[in-house]
Amino acid sequence: MEKAIVRLLTCGSVDDGKSTLIGRLLVETESIPYDTIESTKKIRRSGSTIAAGEIDFSLLTDGLEAEREQGITIDVAYRSMSLLDGKRLIISDAPGHEQYTRNMAVAASRADIGLVLVDATKGVRTQTLRHLTICSLMGVNRVIVAINKLDALGYKQSIFEDIQATLEKALSRMQLPDVIFIPLSALAGDNVVGKSKNMDWYTGATLLEAIQSWRPPAADVGQARMRIQLVSRAENFRGLSGTVHLGSFKVADEVRVFPSNQITRISKIIANQQEVSAVDDLQAVTLVFESEIDATRGDLIVSSKEELHPSDRFNADIVWLHEDALIQSRSYLLLAGSTQTPATVTRIKHKIDVHTGGETAATDLGMNEIGSVEIATDTPLTLLSYSKSREFGNFILVDRLTFNTVGAGMIRHSLRRGENITYQKYEVNKGVRAAQKSQQAKVIWLTGLSGSGKSTIANAVEKRLYAQGMHSYVLDGDNLRMGLNADLGFTPADRAENVRRVSEVAKVLVDAGLIVLVAIISPFEADRRRAKSLFAEGEFIEVFVDTPVEICVARDPKGLYEKAAQGGIPNFTGIGQEYQRPIAPNLVVKGDDDLDASVSKILKVII
Ligand code: ADX
Repeated sequence: MEKAIVRLLTCGSVDDGKSTLIGRLLVETESIPYDTIESTKKIRRSGSTIAAGEIDFSLLTDGLEAEREQGITIDVAYRSMSLLDGKRLIISDAPGHEQYTRNMAVAASRADIGLVLVDATKGVRTQTLRHLTICSLMGVNRVIVAINKLDALGYKQSIFEDIQATLEKALSRMQLPDVIFIPLSALAGDNVVGKSKNMDWYTGATLLEAIQSWRPPAADVGQARMRIQLVSRAENFRGLSGTVHLGSFKVADEVRVFPSNQITRISKIIANQQEVSAVDDLQAVTLVFESEIDATRGDLIVSSKEELHPSDRFNADIVWLHEDALIQSRSYLLLAGSTQTPATVTRIKHKIDVHTGGETAATDLGMNEIGSVEIATDTPLTLLSYSKSREFGNFILVDRLTFNTVGAGMIRHSLRRGENITYQKYEVNKGVRAAQKSQQAKVIWLTGLSGSGKSTIANAVEKRLYAQGMHSYVLDGDNLRMGLNADLGFTPADRAENVRRVSEVAKVLVDAGLIVLVAIISPFEADRRRAKSLFAEGEFIEVFVDTPVEICVARDPKGLYEKAAQGGIPNFTGIGQEYQRPIAPNLVVKGDDDLDASVSKILKVII
C-alpha cells in the first residue's frame, strides 16, 4: 500500500527565509484560503520592508509570532497541502536554534523529505552541516538543499555552484541516497513553484517538483512485525491494534508474541473498520487471534517463522541533545516504541566532527555532538538495525531523574554478546544464606564528601556488628581503587563506572547474605539511583554523611584539600567538581556529631 502522507521537515537557521519559502509554497499551490492571504497584505512586522498591499509570506507560517507582536489574530500554521497524486504533504518545522536540535532529531526520524535551507548571502554554516548530518543519521530519504536569497546576489550561478561544491564534499561522507540542490529566491518566487526566469542556467526541478517527484523507496520487506499499541476488549473479542511493518499478515498466519513467546494463529484482521483477509506494510490494523494470549501494549507480534534475536547490547549512533554531557557508565532510560528500560552507554567509541566527518576519541558527548557508542540495556530488546527499519531501529534516551529527553539514537546492529547468557538459579540463595547468619542482608551506602567521615563511621558500625556476631563487609572507595578500580580516575564517567562496579560487588555480597557497608563519595545522584535500583525494596539504605565542607577541609585527613586548593587535583569533589546532595536519603548523619550517636542511628536500620 502506498503512503497517503508524505512528511517534509524544514531545517534552517534563523533568518534563512524558511517561513517565507513555505508561505510562498502554500500560497502558490492554493493551499491557503483567500481571506488569510488578504490579511497578510495588511499586517506588517516591525521593521518589515515588504511594500504595503503585498503578501508577507512569512506571516503564514509564523502566525503566532505575528500575533504576539501586534495583537492581531490571523489563521495560523497552514502546514499541510495536497500533492498532485492526492497524497497529503505534512510540513513540520525544525526551529533553527541550536537548542532545538532535539526537536529536529525527533522530527527527522519521521520525515520522508528534509528541506535544508542555506542562506546564500551567508554561505554554509555549522548548522547546515549539522542538519544534513542529522537527516543522514535519521534516515531521511530525500534531501532538498534550497540555496536561498540568490536574488540578493544577482542570481549568480557561481555562488550556487560554490555552495553546492562545498556541501557535496561534506555529503560524500554521509549516507544520503538522494540529494537535490535548488537555487531559489523565496522572496521573489524563483524556482519555488514556477521555474525562475532569472536563472536560465538552472534546468533542474523547482521546489514543488522536487517534492512531488518523491516516491517512497521500495519497502525492505521481510518478516512482518507489529508493535501492540492498543489492546481492545469486547464480549468474545480481544483485538490487538498497531501498525504492520516490514511485510504483511494474512488470516490463519501463525504468529508469536514477544516477550511471552506464545504462539497462536490470526483468526480475523480488521482494517478501516472492515474485515479483510490480509494486510500490508504500514497499514494500521486490529488483529484477533484463535487463542487467548498474554500480550500487552508494547509487546511485539511477529511471524512464527521469524527467529527473534533479542539482545541487550547494541552498537548505535547517538545525537546528544542536552547541556549536561552524556556520561559513559551512567544509567538512562531507553525508550523505543512503547517499551522502556534502563540502559547504559558502556563505551563511547568516537565522536563525529560535522565539519570534517572525522572520528575523534571521546569519553563524553556534549550538546549536539554525535557519537558512535555501545549501549547495554537492562532487559533484552528486539531492535533492528536502523538501516533495515526506522520504526524498530530508533530510540531516545531520557534522564532518569528529570525525564528530559537527552539523546536520540539509531541502532547500527545488535551485539550477540548477551544472547547466550542465562541466569542460573541456585537453591542455596540469598534468603537461605542470610537466615543461616540470623540476619537480613542489606547495603548501607554511605555517601558524602572526602573527609566527611564515611570510613570512620563504617569502621565503627562494623565493629559493633562483629561484636554482636553479625556478618558484614566494608567496601571502601579508596581500598577498591587500589585493585578492582585501579584503572579509574575521577572524571564523571569514571566515577559513574566506579559506582557501578562497587554496586555490583555489593549486590554479590548481599546475595551471599552479608550486611554490606559501602563508603564511597558517589557524588552524583543519578549514579546512586542506579545503584539503588539493583536492590530489592528496603535492601538499600542510603546514608548521607552530611558534614560541612569547612569541617572536611579542616580535618583534611589525607592532605588532599590542601593539594586541591593549590590546583594539584583538578576534579576534586567539592572544589573542582560538584557533590550532589542526596535528594531522598534514608538516613542523614552529621559527620561532626557524636560518632556513637551516628552509629546507633545506623544500627537501628540494620538490626
Ligand atoms: S567516587 O567519587 O568515585 O565515589 P571514591 O570514594 O571511590 O570516589 O574515592 C574517593 C577517594 O579518592 C577519596 O577519599 C580520596 O582519597 C581519593 N581522591 C583522589 N582524587 C580525588 C578526587 N579528585 N576527588 C575525590 N577524591 C579523590
